[in-house]
Amino acid sequence: MSHAMNVDYDGLIPNNVGLNADARLRRALESWHPGYLDWWQARGPEGFQESLVYLRTAVSVDPEGWAKFGYVRMPEYRWGILLAPAVEDRRIAFGAHKGEPAWQEVPGEHRAMLRRLIVVQGDTEPAAVEQQRYLGRTAPSLYDLRNLFQVSVEEARHLWAMVYLLQKYFGRDGREEAEDLLRRRSGDQDTPRLLGAFNEATPDWLSFFMFTFFTDRDGKMQLHALSQSGFDPLSRTCRFMLTEEAHHMFVGQSGIGRIIERTCAAMRAAGIDDPYDIARVRTLGVIDLPTMQKKANLHFSLTLDLFGSEISTNAANAFNAGLKGRYLEDQIADDHRLTGDTYPVARLKRGQIVREDVPALSSLNMRLRDDYVADAASGIERWWNRIIERAGIAFRFRLPHVAFNRRIGEFAAIHADLDGNQLSSEEWQRRQDEFLPSIEDNLFIESLMRPVTEPGGFASWIAPPRAGVDGLPGNFEYVKLAG
Ligand SMILES: [Fe+2]
Ligand SMILES: [Fe+2]
Repeated sequence: MSHAMNVDYDGLIPNNVGLNADARLRRALESWHPGYLDWWQARGPEGFQESLVYLRTAVSVDPEGWAKFGYVRMPEYRWGILLAPAVEDRRIAFGAHKGEPAWQEVPGEHRAMLRRLIVVQGDTEPAAVEQQRYLGRTAPSLYDLRNLFQVSVEEARHLWAMVYLLQKYFGRDGREEAEDLLRRRSGDQDTPRLLGAFNEATPDWLSFFMFTFFTDRDGKMQLHALSQSGFDPLSRTCRFMLTEEAHHMFVGQSGIGRIIERTCAAMRAAGIDDPYDIARVRTLGVIDLPTMQKKANLHFSLTLDLFGSEISTNAANAFNAGLKGRYLEDQIADDHRLTGDTYPVARLKRGQIVREDVPALSSLNMRLRDDYVADAASGIERWWNRIIERAGIAFRFRLPHVAFNRRIGEFAAIHADLDGNQLSSEEWQRRQDEFLPSIEDNLFIESLMRPVTEPGGFASWIAPPRAGVDGLPGNFEYVKLAG
């Protein structure tokens, strides 16, 4: 194993970027650190800062066995700066600079655009921690509580990853941006986070699992696109972040899977065949499948807005500049410049939703969103629908039409149902509760959110996992609660 794979844990800030040899950067990060810890105490997981949590910490960036597990108090977690190993003679893979050596320093002409990309990505990371701040109170098990905290410390590490780039490569304005990342606040009226979905509440565990399934998957797509970047430090940072992101999506897809499993088992045991017999299903203390579908509709549509407008000059510029590629850019067989190409974009034309060929460079947001939708759809089939099928219940989860419930892009101006049929404002008002969780739905879910804190115990509405964390049994004490 080369030494760049190992992480130096000797100093205040664990890293594999040779921080000891870079006094200026070390000072900058060390002076940002106290404000970060204040942020973590004030906006990180509420009520569990003294608890011992069985967490994974990265000790290497080698994909094989990079982590060690152990009990940690979260404020003492070793947040660090970890880059995937450099690829020798790496070249810019797309855009106008295609074939040139990847940049090790910020390309002056693209400086502002690059900084903006890093800031927008960086802003989502602390936002997710803030959104999930209160969930510890109502965790359905110690296993789930531990997973929540693992996600929180890793999102916070992703903040470190972006702050490292800002402070190392962007001088004074980088330091100011790093401060602002601690200043904005999810859901705040005056200083909200930059993107809509990161200002929404995550009020219950069904929302949390939906968020990690749908919204962390947007994170995966964005990180993939940035890991293609011609700015090599960004590429290497994002490549390592993706290994952590995979766990967040696992938490979401397995979490929802376990809720479905429990619901189906309870229905079978009670002799209920009709998944729409909601009142009876709810008396069993489990979450009915149609309500889960509504939550999925909400989180999917909020997440689609994160991809921005279907047709976007910014996206074209970032691609041309070699800063942000397509999903799996290096595996696509085309000229990677896209100057004469087109791409079919879903648009609203004379009140109709149609697919229209648009210059491929302008439609990169749409393309990334299409890749996202395909990825989410296959996750739903493989993880959720298979469980329902096995239980023999006549229900399938599906993704709503991309025009449903949108705030950004082509369909922000219309109302549409789950199949993309347009609705008048009155119809939308009248029928909203068919598509999205109603107040009663949310109250019901809230009524189930009671913490289960004895090792091996699980709430009535969720099945235990197949396997524990790190090969440990389900009744392991994943979190030692303080006091
Ligand atoms: Fe993240
Ligand atoms: Fe994540």
